[in-house]
Amino acid sequence: MFDPLAFRSALGSFATGVTIVTARDASGAPVGLTANSFNSVSLDPPMVLWSLSLHSGSLPVFRDAETWAVHVLAADQQGMSDRFARPGQNKFEGLSPADGPEGAPLIEGCAARFGCRARFEYEGGDHAIFLGEVIDFDRREAEPLIYHGGQYGRIMRAPTGADLEREGLAEEVGEKLSLTERGQQLLEALERVAKR
Ligand SMILES: Cc1cc2nc3c(=O)[nH]c(=O)nc-3n(C[C@H](O)[C@H](O)[C@H](O)COP(=O)(O)O)c2cc1C
Repeated sequence: MFDPLAFRSALGSFATGVTIVTARDASGAPVGLTANSFNSVSLDPPMVLWSLSLHSGSLPVFRDAETWAVHVLAADQQGMSDRFARPGQNKFEGLSPADGPEGAPLIEGCAARFGCRARFEYEGGDHAIFLGEVIDFDRREAEPLIYHGGQYGRIMRAPTGADLEREGLAEEVGEKLSLTERGQQLLEALERVAKR
C-alpha cells in the first residue's frame, strides 16, 4: 500500500482545469459539485467522463439522472469552485439556475459547458465513473481556472522569443537570444514569487 499523502501529491502534479457538474434530482431541485476529474473521451460519438466519490452526498442523484452538465470554470470563478466544493450546503442559494437544452442546471459565466445524456457508470474503486454523450455544448473566449498541487492557478502561455524581444526582455546577441538586464531582473522577481 502506498503512503496516501505521497500518492495524493503525486496525482496533484497533473494540472487540470476546474469544473462544476450539475443535475436535477427527482423533485427537480438543482444539485452540483466541483470536480477536476473531468476529461474528454471520444469525438465520434462525442463523449466525456468524470468521477464522483462514493462518499459524495450527490451520488444518488447522479446515479439516477438521465442528463447532467459539465461547466468548465473561467479564471474569475474561483469563488464558485469553493462554493460547490462544500458538502451539505445549499450550493445554489441565490442562483435560481435556468436549465440548459439537455435539462441540467446552468452555471453562468463559464468558459465552456457540455450538456450530456448519461450513458454509463463504471466502478472505479472509491469513485463512480460517469460517462456521458455530449448532446449540446457552448464555449466563450475566456481564460480557464487551473488546479495544480491542491492550489488554484492561471494559465501562463509560454512566451516566444519574439514576445520577449518586443517587451525589451531579450535581445539577439550573435545567433542567440539573451535576456536583457530588465529581463534578468524580471526573471529573478518571478522566481522569488514562485518560491514563496
Ligand atoms: C478543485 C476541486 C476538484 C474536485 N474534484 C472532485 C472530483 O473530481 N470528484 C469528487 O467526487 N469530488 C471532487 N472534489 C470534492 C467535491 O467538490 C466535494 O467533496 C463536494 O463537497 C462534494 O459535494 P457533495 O458531497 O454535496 O456531493 C473536488 C474539489 C475541488 C476543490
